[in-house]
Amino acid sequence: MNDTSSQPRVLIFDTTLRDGEQSPGATMTHDEKLEIAAALDEMGVDIIEAGFPIASEGDFAAVSEIAKLAQTSQICGLARANYKDIDRCWEAVKHARAPRIHTFIGTSPLHRAIPNLTMDEMAERIFETVSHARNLCDNVQWSPMDATRTEHDYLCRVVEIAIKAGATTINIPDTVGYTAPRESADLIRMLLERVPGAANVIFATHCHNDLGMATANSLAAVEAGARQVECTINGLGERAGNTALEEVVMALKVRNDIMPYQTAIDTTKIMAISRRVATVSGFAVQFNKAIVGKNAFAHESGIHQDGMLKNRETFEVMRPEDVGLSGTSLPLGKHSGRAALRAKLNDLGFDMADNQLKDTFVRFKALADRKKEVFDDDLIALVQDSAATA
Ligand code: KIV
Ligand code: ZN
Repeated sequence: MNDTSSQPRVLIFDTTLRDGEQSPGATMTHDEKLEIAAALDEMGVDIIEAGFPIASEGDFAAVSEIAKLAQTSQICGLARANYKDIDRCWEAVKHARAPRIHTFIGTSPLHRAIPNLTMDEMAERIFETVSHARNLCDNVQWSPMDATRTEHDYLCRVVEIAIKAGATTINIPDTVGYTAPRESADLIRMLLERVPGAANVIFATHCHNDLGMATANSLAAVEAGARQVECTINGLGERAGNTALEEVVMALKVRNDIMPYQTAIDTTKIMAISRRVATVSGFAVQFNKAIVGKNAFAHESGIHQDGMLKNRETFEVMRPEDVGLSGTSLPLGKHSGRAALRAKLNDLGFDMADNQLKDTFVRFKALADRKKEVFDDDLIALVQDSAATA
């Protein structure tokens, strides 16, 4: 393991409780939100976006309570670009050891048309609302929603205004999951080069997964200079979801050789929080989901199982223990070979002679053809049956 302590730090901003909870059907109870927030705080998340305080009394109460409970994470609330939202947000987050106000407005042509503001009027609104937030709190994040579909000149102009008004973090959202890795990187690079004052703030990347590129786009933004990644556990989020926290964090850990950035996340806590978020949100994790899927560290085919038994690096790029699992799983099925069967039987306490194993293997294959997975109890019954008929 290489020493990463001198590497640039990437802040992890988790929005499971705000953008994640916005997914239709993912609503969590007050107590569930507090429990998830405590787990995020404990695993080393730098900033927790705890909710949208103006949205409901429930959201306000959850954000206020989380603000009081957090030990180390900064606690952030979302607010639209108006004083009422911002004041309500501040009322909720002000209890935190490190509060943050996150205010946003849609800046692309499509989004500008909704409040029917001219470019100049919107620029003025941004200056006023960010200044107002900054008068309340010294930690202000500003987002130009739909940044990736905003004209570059206008994006540079409004980012400069937000910085002048006091924003300390500038978040660049790919609201509809439209960008691609090279473009994501170019956009951050362009802002860092063109916007006066850009070097004095943190740039964040906030990607959605509509085209399945959220993680790649976030990592590309980091390589271009973004130092905060916004993400959710299990990639929970509207439509195809947000960038998955576990993917970004593990990619930076496993490929630290080519992406030398450190995070403060205790990765051994990933699996437990993933399972808890799946349970409380009601959004099951797909079996083959990277990092946290049931099959992410499971190998059924004979060639893979044989390789894994000899050297786990043959078919795994990270250790299951690093994400909080006890080990690799070698489920037995019709694709499994004799080596895996022998290893499993040994684990179960059966030490077989070669001819006995040969016979058991034939019976096992016949059973595996009928069943998707052969469990320990099936194997024990098979061996006992072999012994009785021998
Ligand atoms: O996707 C988005 O644009 C957002 C903003 C509110 C930051 O979630
Ligand atoms: Zn979003």
